[in-house]
Amino acid sequence: MAPSPDAAAQVLVASNRGPVSYDVQDDGTLASRRGGGGLVSGLSAIGPDADALWVCAALSDGDREAVRRGVGEDGVRMLDIPADVYADAYNGVANSVLWFVHHMLYQTPVEPVFDAEFRRQWASYESYNRAFAEALAESAAEGAAVLVQDYHLSLVPGMLRALRPDLRIGHFSHTPWAPPEYFRMLPDDIAEQLLRGMLGADRLGFLTERWAAAFRACCADRVGGLGTTETGVHGLGADADFLRRRAHEADVEERIVALREEVGAGRRTIVRVDRTELSKNIVRGLLSYRQLLDERPEWRERVVHVAFAYPSRQDLAVYREYTAEVQRLAEEINSGYGTASWTPVVLHVKDDFARSLAAYRIADVALVNPIRDGMNLVAKEVPVVSDEGCALVLSREAGAFEELGEDALVVNPYDVTATARALHEALTMPKAERAERAKRLSAAATALPPSQWFLDQLNALRGPLG
Ligand code: G6P
Repeated sequence: MAPSPDAAAQVLVASNRGPVSYDVQDDGTLASRRGGGGLVSGLSAIGPDADALWVCAALSDGDREAVRRGVGEDGVRMLDIPADVYADAYNGVANSVLWFVHHMLYQTPVEPVFDAEFRRQWASYESYNRAFAEALAESAAEGAAVLVQDYHLSLVPGMLRALRPDLRIGHFSHTPWAPPEYFRMLPDDIAEQLLRGMLGADRLGFLTERWAAAFRACCADRVGGLGTTETGVHGLGADADFLRRRAHEADVEERIVALREEVGAGRRTIVRVDRTELSKNIVRGLLSYRQLLDERPEWRERVVHVAFAYPSRQDLAVYREYTAEVQRLAEEINSGYGTASWTPVVLHVKDDFARSLAAYRIADVALVNPIRDGMNLVAKEVPVVSDEGCALVLSREAGAFEELGEDALVVNPYDVTATARALHEALTMPKAERAERAKRLSAAATALPPSQWFLDQLNALRGPLG
């Protein structure tokens, strides 16, 4: 396939979720919202003049309407994939199968079940990937670099390679990668198709060596190795400049006042901020906190667990049930232990970035205990932002453990008793030690800022390969 005559993009990024989304207002006009995150700041590092294009999916009705009306931003191309195809690809395959495989989330005695319904959804996943590959093939200049993101788009590198052999194609996984024994659960033909799809890239990026090694092991197991594709590790770090500036703006200061009021004067805080995501282990975090209050009654009235659990993927029943369980358990702890003047758990579910930063700033302890996580940026952000230097209780199953393990209190995320003890240890850590550790955590967390993370990949992709 030849690039279309006006194909000018030299650098292309492809991801399911793009940098902008649209809402239809009451008066019928469209309002745009810009998202944040590592990719957005990463791409901005190549400068406004670069011929860059971000290809993403229309996710909401507002997005689809924007595509239909031809509303959009320079440098962003949104794909209007039919809603039913999109739902099958995103909810059915990407989030219910691939996310579950890489995070090892299945209750294996009863799931997964790869039946005719799954095959139907898989066909949608293929056509959703094909839509991306075709759009990229059409828009990329001769020899351009294309950076494909994440498990939603595993088949794109192979499809794009077939259409445009001249391109430099990279793919980056923001998730863990499943070990071969777990990956074997996938039907053989689909496992092969996924790996061969990925191997269509010149270079595959991962957040840690652990995930890169798992990918290579799956390739050895299923498709006889990597062929000519390279793997690389790029441990995305926190954006210190942005975070420190943003965390001292007026709206954050306001929320600090409100949050301190909710917590109560003089009390310690254990802070967590997550999407309400099965892999984040919020329920065991609450159980650990409850065990702390049981075993160490001296903490009652003196500590508050500030837990922000923002709704995610609510089209999936299992996520809705998990969200409800988090809320139920928080209420149970509050009614079982709370007093007229003390609410042990302050739980908020409405997404508010300024309030998250406020919680980071007042944190004495940050609890990051996922059962499995590609990186976990919260673990990297809190030590950077916290006013007095917080202690970090960190799961050894988070990618961030590789870089932060030395100065965190490391836990097995399944071990509620050990986590309760780590919380106690964190709360009793001398202030000076806490501050010193937080300083080192913060340095490690910001070693590879998003801009450099992005440029490193781009340079590696454009450099001599093989
Ligand atoms: C993870 C994935 C991202 C995804 C994000 C939010 O971090 O690696 O690709 O965008 O979760 O999930 P959502 O389904 O809301 O896009």
